[in-house]
Amino acid sequence: MFERVREDIRSVLDRDPAARNTFEVLTTYPGLHAILLHRLAHPLWRNDWKWLARVISTFSRWLTGIEIHPGAQIGRRFFIDHGTGVVIGETSEIGDDVTLYQGVTLGGTSLDGGKRHPTLEDGVIVGAGAKVLGPFTVGKNAKIGSNAVAVKEVPAGATVVGVPGRVVRRREHVEEAHEAIAKKIGFDAYAVSKEMPDPTVHAINAMLEHMQAVDKKFQSLCQLLEEKGVDCGDVSLPELREEDFAVVSEAEADEAKAS
Ligand SMILES: CC(C)(COP(=O)(O)OP(=O)(O)OC[C@H]1O[C@@H](n2cnc3c(N)ncnc32)[C@H](O)[C@@H]1OP(=O)(O)O)[C@@H](O)C(=O)NCCC(=O)NCCS
Repeated sequence: MFERVREDIRSVLDRDPAARNTFEVLTTYPGLHAILLHRLAHPLWRNDWKWLARVISTFSRWLTGIEIHPGAQIGRRFFIDHGTGVVIGETSEIGDDVTLYQGVTLGGTSLDGGKRHPTLEDGVIVGAGAKVLGPFTVGKNAKIGSNAVAVKEVPAGATVVGVPGRVVRRREHVEEAHEAIAKKIGFDAYAVSKEMPDPTVHAINAMLEHMQAVDKKFQSLCQLLEEKGVDCGDVSLPELREEDFAVVSEAEADEAKAS
C-alpha cells in the first residue's frame, strides 16, 4: 500500500513542474488527497460497505472539490492536477499513468444501469474542462483537449478537440503503421513523419500507406484461399539483416565484388 502511495506522489512530482518536494505534494495537492481517499473507499464499495464508501467519497468531495464515485476503477500513478470540479462516474475505468486536469467530467449519457461511463486506457491525458461522455474507450496515450466534449471512441494516440470532439491528429496509429510497413520493406523511416511539409516525404508516406493497404488485402485474400483449401505457400519477405544496409566505402564495395 505504501508503495502505491509513493508512486502516486512520484507521479505528481513527475508531471507537475510546480511540485517541489514530497512534503509539499502530500500536504497541498487535492488531487492526491482525492486519490488516496478513493483507494480507501473503492475496496469498501466492492465489499458491499456501500454507505461507508459513499460517505468517504462525499467527505473527499467536500475536502477537495473532486468527486470520484467509489465504484470507479482507477489504475496506478493516476494524477489529477488542480482538481476542482472533476467528476468521475461510477462505471468509469481508468488505466495506468492517466492525467486529468480541473473541471473534467467522466460522465454518462444514459439513465439506464450498467456500464455508462468511459474507459480511459493507459497514458490518456484529459485537458481542463473537457467532458468525456458515454461508455466508450479512449485509447492508449490519447489526448482530449481542454474544453472538448468527447462523445465517441477515441483511437490510441489521437488528439481530440472541440465540441463535439473531433480527432485532429493520429500520430501513434499512423506512424506505427508507417514504421511497420517501412521496416518490412527495409526502408529507414527514421524521423519521417506525416506532418513534415516536404513533398518527397508526403509522397513516401502515401506510398507506404498504399503498400500497407495492398498488403492487408493480400493477406485477407490468402486467408480466404487457405480457408477454401488452396495453399498460398510462404509469402513472407526474407528476414532483413543490419549488414544489408551498412554504408560501405567504394574501396570496400570493390573488395566485396572481387571476392
Ligand atoms: C489538445 C492538446 C492536448 C493538443 O496538444 P498537441 O497534440 O500538442 O496539438 P497541437 O497543439 O499541435 O494542436 C493541434 C490542433 O488542435 C488545436 N487545438 C489545440 N488545443 C485545442 C483545444 N483545447 N480546443 C480546440 N482546438 C485546439 C490547435 O490549434 C491545432 O490546430 P491547427 O492544426 O488548426 O493549428 C492541448 O492543446 C490541450 O488542450 N491540452 C490540455 C492542457 C490543459 O488542460 N492544461 C491545463 C493546465 S492548468
